[in-house]
Amino acid sequence: MPLYRKHKLARELSHTLLSEFHRSLMLIADRDMLVYNITSKIRQIAPVDRIEIFLLNTETEKYIHTGKHHDGSEALDRIHFTQHSKLVNWLSVNETYFYVPRMSNVMSYLSDAERELVRSANIELIFPLKVINRLNGFVMLGKRSDRKIFSWQEIDMLGLLFYQTAFAIENTALYEEQSARIRKMYRSDRLAILGQLAAGAAHEIRNPLTAIRSTVQYLGKGMKNPDKLEMIEELMEEVDRINKIVQGLLSFAKSPELEMSKVNIEQLLQHTLALLGNTITEKQVEVAFDLSAANTVVTADASQLKQVFLNIILNAVEAMENSAERHLTLGVETGRMLDYQSRYLLISIRDSGNGIEPDDSENIFTPFYTTKKDGTGLGLPISYGIINRHGGEMEISSLPGKGTTVVIKLPQTI
Ligand SMILES: Nc1ncnc2c1ncn2[C@@H]1O[C@H](COP(=O)(O)OP(=O)(O)OP(=O)(O)O)[C@@H](O)[C@H]1O
Ligand SMILES: [Mg+2]
Repeated sequence: MPLYRKHKLARELSHTLLSEFHRSLMLIADRDMLVYNITSKIRQIAPVDRIEIFLLNTETEKYIHTGKHHDGSEALDRIHFTQHSKLVNWLSVNETYFYVPRMSNVMSYLSDAERELVRSANIELIFPLKVINRLNGFVMLGKRSDRKIFSWQEIDMLGLLFYQTAFAIENTALYEEQSARIRKMYRSDRLAILGQLAAGAAHEIRNPLTAIRSTVQYLGKGMKNPDKLEMIEELMEEVDRINKIVQGLLSFAKSPELEMSKVNIEQLLQHTLALLGNTITEKQVEVAFDLSAANTVVTADASQLKQVFLNIILNAVEAMENSAERHLTLGVETGRMLDYQSRYLLISIRDSGNGIEPDDSENIFTPFYTTKKDGTGLGLPISYGIINRHGGEMEISSLPGKGTTVVIKLPQTI
């Protein structure tokens, strides 16, 4: 075949490949699905020993290994790259690939640990995933499966594919952010409306209830018949029960003003644990701290935050009732807002309890939703309200049978 024809074919092929790649990527809204898809597409286009994708976690600002596990990839799960990493810096500034065998100057720029990783994992090529001025991640490719070296043409082609990939990943992040915002709005609205309804209803119920109580009490006074007396007593008990529920409703609905002061979250967590000391020892819960934030001070209402921690830790302990291993891990990390001006604390409370079924996960913030015999189902909605009033966020993720993690994001002024 004449050379010009061969080139034309290659061009057509790459054009079809690119547009097909583009089409399929832009349709996927789920990030894990996208990563899976990219990996398998790249494998079709360029069979390589390994494809490792690191993506930016915008909450912690770290680049984390993402995707399916395979032989030899577990070691990478323990590695994360920060914004200060030399590799991240190089990719971010140069906005191009790093071809390991031909670019020894870059290799010597890397830190010792990064160099060691590139060598031991047999990485041949690293592509940035950059959109506008943000490095969203990078892709590491191993050697070609047929042991040939990559041609520059192939590298350019891969470069184009990863350029598109970066946009597709950015899209999934935006989509996720938007759905989370809508979910939160819906949740806050629902809680606010329920709060108002609760307050209104409680108020309306309280007066007639007082009247009923005193009338029943009055009727019982002259009563001699023991059967009827018993009925009166039962009535009184029921009235008292309604009263208790009304009290619960009122305490949920009222949102006391925040009394702000400087609060050290680490100390507050320790303090909350001390309050629960007996329960924790009795239930043989093993507590561990995972503190990576240098400064854990925020401006907040200490007593309300303590109530939040109490609710969540109690939930965790209760969820581990039937677990063989009872681990409670409390973590505090620092994150930076996208504007780079402000910071926040990420407080995570992780248990190894029975977890929450996916179908129940939206219900847990609904007032009075409980799966416990003597629960009120107000612990989480009250906590959610308190965190909201602090300008923070609260999210729960759970693996049924494995455990639950509650993450609280609190703004931290510096
Ligand atoms: N860490 C957890 N693990 C498993 N399920 C949980 C966890 N935290 C909350 N839940 C589920 O969410 C429900 C609601 O929790 P919430 O704290 O609002 O109320 P509760 O614990 O049932 O009652 P109360 O807080 O009044 O004791 C719980 O009944 C439970 O099913
Ligand atoms: Mg609770």
